[in-house]
Amino acid sequence: MDDASTGQVLEVVLPGVVEPDGLVLRHRERPTPGPGRALVRVEATGVSFAEQQMRRAKYYDQPPFPFVPGYDLVGTVAEVGPGVDPGLLGGRFAVLTKTGGWASHAVVDAADLVPVPDGVDPAEAETVVVNGITAWQMLHGVARVAEGQTVLVHGANGGVGSTLVQLARLAGARVIGTASPRHHDAVRELGATPLDYRDPALPAKVRELAPGGVDAVFDHVGGPGIVDSWRLLGPRSTLVAYGTASTRDAPGSSRLPVLRLFARLLLWDALPGGRTAKFFNIWTGKRDAAGFRARLGHDLGAVFALLAEGRLRPQVAARVPLERVAEAVALAESGTITGKVVLVP
Ligand SMILES: NC(=O)c1ccc[n+]([C@@H]2O[C@H](COP(=O)([O-])OP(=O)(O)OC[C@H]3O[C@@H](n4cnc5c(N)ncnc54)[C@H](OP(=O)(O)O)[C@@H]3O)[C@@H](O)[C@H]2O)c1
Repeated sequence: MDDASTGQVLEVVLPGVVEPDGLVLRHRERPTPGPGRALVRVEATGVSFAEQQMRRAKYYDQPPFPFVPGYDLVGTVAEVGPGVDPGLLGGRFAVLTKTGGWASHAVVDAADLVPVPDGVDPAEAETVVVNGITAWQMLHGVARVAEGQTVLVHGANGGVGSTLVQLARLAGARVIGTASPRHHDAVRELGATPLDYRDPALPAKVRELAPGGVDAVFDHVGGPGIVDSWRLLGPRSTLVAYGTASTRDAPGSSRLPVLRLFARLLLWDALPGGRTAKFFNIWTGKRDAAGFRARLGHDLGAVFALLAEGRLRPQVAARVPLERVAEAVALAESGTITGKVVLVP
C-alpha cells in the first residue's frame, strides 16, 4: 500500500516464532534513502522456503526478532540518496535482500539494483531472483552441467527446483525431478522425468533411468537422504547440497543440521574417485562486495534474458496482496503449489 498523501509505508513484521496469522502488518513513516541508497517502491516480493524456516527460528543466520522478512523484491526506484545517479529514478530493478522485502517500500544499496528487462512482468521477474541466481550458479558455477548429461533435481516443483529443471534442460541435460505425485504432471511439463521423493524405491528408480549414475544431484533436503544422493552419483560427478528442508520442523538448533551436513560433505569431497560434494550458499564471497555484485548481476542478467526471450517460463503459483501475507505464507507451505507465491504490495 502506497499512501503518498500521508507518507506512510506498509510492512510485514515477523515478531517471533508464530503461525502465519501471527505476522503483523505495520505502518510507518516513509524512510528517506541515505548516501548511496535508493528507495524502491516494491511491486513484487516472494515467499521463499527461508521464511518458512525463519518463522520457526530455523534459518541458519536469521536476524533477531522482530524483523521484516522478504528475501527478494522487484520494484521501481522512487527516490535516491546523495551520490546516487538520478537516472535510476522510475527504472525497474530486482534486489536480493535476504530480509526486508515484505513491504510497500524498501531502502536498499543502489549498487545492489539489477535491471529488469523492459516488458517483463514484475511478479514473473520476482520468481527468478533468489531462485534464478541459486539455480544458475549451482548449475553452471558448481556442477558445470554440460549437454548430454543426466541430473537429479529434488523438489522439482519448488521455486528453486522448477527453475533449475528448466535451466538444466536449456543446457541440454536430461533431468530426473523428484516431487509429490500431485506435481508430476507439472514437473513433466517443465521437461523432467518425475519421481516421488517419498517412495522408498526412489534410488532404485533413479538407477533404472541412469544405470551408470547421474552427473549431478541437487539436494535441498539434507538429513539421512543425502546418503542416497551421494550414492546415486556416477564417476566424475557432483553432489550440490544447498539446504536442510527435512529438518525444518525438527526441534533444536537451526545450525546443527547444517553443520552436520557440512562435515559429511567435507568427508565425501576428500575421498578419491572423482566425485565431489559441495555446499552451495548464495552469500558466499559477500565480503568482496564488488566481486559478489558483479557475479550476481551477471548471473541474474543471464536468467532475466532467458525470461525476456520466453525460453524460461516463470512459475507464479499465486499473486497475493501484501495485506494477505498470512494467506500467502500458508499457501506456500501447503505442499499444493508449483513455483512461487508472490506478494504484490
Ligand atoms: N543455499 C542457498 O543459498 C539457497 C538459496 C535459495 C534456496 N535454498 C534452499 O532451497 C530449497 C528450496 O527453496 P524454495 O524457496 O524453492 O522452496 P519451495 O518453493 O517452498 O519448495 C520447496 C520444495 O521442497 C519440497 N519439500 C518440502 N519439504 C520437504 C521435505 N521434508 N523433504 C523433501 N522435500 C521437501 C517441496 O515439495 P512439496 O511441494 O511436495 O512439499 C518443494 O518441492 C530450500 O531448502 C531453501 O533453503 C538455498
